[in-house]
Amino acid sequence: MTVHLAFDVYGTLVDPQGMVDHLAADAGDQAAAVSQLWRQKQLEFAFRRGLMRLYEDFGVCTRQALRYAMASHGFDLEPAREDELLQAYLTLPAFADASPVLASLNGVYPCYAFSNGSYPALEKVLGHNRLLEHLDGLVSVDDIKSFKPDPAVYAHARRATGAMDQPLCLVSSNGWDVIGARASGLMAVWVQRDPDTVFEDWGIAPSAIIRSLQELPDTLASLG
Ligand code: LAC
Repeated sequence: MTVHLAFDVYGTLVDPQGMVDHLAADAGDQAAAVSQLWRQKQLEFAFRRGLMRLYEDFGVCTRQALRYAMASHGFDLEPAREDELLQAYLTLPAFADASPVLASLNGVYPCYAFSNGSYPALEKVLGHNRLLEHLDGLVSVDDIKSFKPDPAVYAHARRATGAMDQPLCLVSSNGWDVIGARASGLMAVWVQRDPDTVFEDWGIAPSAIIRSLQELPDTLASLG
């Protein structure tokens, strides 16, 4: 049995809060609050689109959430500036542990990125951070026009990574993603990047909890 790995992208390999510096020009000292609301609404919009069966590219959720976050804080956003910020989103910075850990796991375990993001967006952000070269492939929810945590999306990840008869392990800093994967029968390692982040108690536990991707190789070895 070969464990296949499916890495969540936003929040796990690349940092959505990398937008704070860009937003400072528009939102001043409220940039961090705008960035947080942007991310929260981006996810909420995707959840709701999944439930409503009103699928659009994740980039549409990102754009509409940015508009909402800026308007909520009382800021105007010119269309040209909105485009600029969304371009910058395509070059979000990677977390420092992403590249070395993917490089060390590549060749040991089949490694995939598995995300709500569209293929062009994933290629751009993972290519920009030189992470693509350490991956065996990408799986986007766009294949089936739904979003995490729809169980159909996790079932699709099994098929698309070739892990139908092998264990598939999600690696994600997003607790709701970990719960979604576990509920769909996957293994899932929760990356608790911030020690203050609480795992939601649904009675569905992660397969393992790590503080940084650097702990992943040893953790996978111990999971057997
Ligand atoms: C991802 C987002 C939801 O799927 O974190 O990459």
